[in-house]
Amino acid sequence: PKLPIFKFDVLQSTQTKARELYDKEGLDLFVVWAVEQAAGRGRRERSWHSPKGGLYFSLFSKKLGNLPSPQLISLAAGVAIKDVMQKLYDITCELKWPNDILYQGKKLCGILSEVASRGQEIDHAIVGIGINVNTDLSGLPEGISREAIAVKNIVNREVDLEVLLATACTEVLDRISRLVTQEGRSKTIADYKKHCLTLNSQVIVYLDKGKVSGRALDITGEGALLVATTKEILTLTTGDVIHLRRR
Ligand code: BTN
Repeated sequence: PKLPIFKFDVLQSTQTKARELYDKEGLDLFVVWAVEQAAGRGRRERSWHSPKGGLYFSLFSKKLGNLPSPQLISLAAGVAIKDVMQKLYDITCELKWPNDILYQGKKLCGILSEVASRGQEIDHAIVGIGINVNTDLSGLPEGISREAIAVKNIVNREVDLEVLLATACTEVLDRISRLVTQEGRSKTIADYKKHCLTLNSQVIVYLDKGKVSGRALDITGEGALLVATTKEILTLTTGDVIHLRRR
């Protein structure tokens, strides 16, 4: 089936627009793409600067079947984008738990998954993906531009956003659809772990309240991060990770 793509020049946020379109059109699967966002949203209430040149889209999907944990959707999307970068541009990225895609330690792509549940079941997911592509990073606030990198800086040319969008949607959907079987879930976690920079690092994880530090031991079958502190082993489902050193 063809994937409908709704393209806009400017939106506040493709996430918000996707929700609106779902309420209005009742489609099960579609994409919202904005050339620019005026109020792009990041994880943990942050904003996501979205100047022209980047790729900003939200993939709305209703038929997800039964998933043990919504977190798996973000991890699967992260692996998918990592694969796309390799396939299209020969760029080897790393994953920072839970869903940042980095190139040589700098942020290339961020993912924000919003999942709506009905009872125990997932009703739909809106997977928001922002990629620094042909973005002029010098226009971003200094603290952000210092820690970011764009595809064009790595490959030394501008690339086609439509090709990237189409390939990304295909890969993300493929990865997400494989999450319905136990085998698919294990494979996704295994692929994720293979490229995850966070594993085996000394980390500080900022939580909603406070922070913890320790060594990142493993990622569970549900996508949670296990961190060994001096006292205990914690199972974290969300947070902001700072990597201290790798062992
Ligand atoms: C993060 O790293 O904090 C996640 C950033 C997610 C940004 C994307 S851009 C498309 C979609 N629309 C939004 O408002 N946010 C996501």
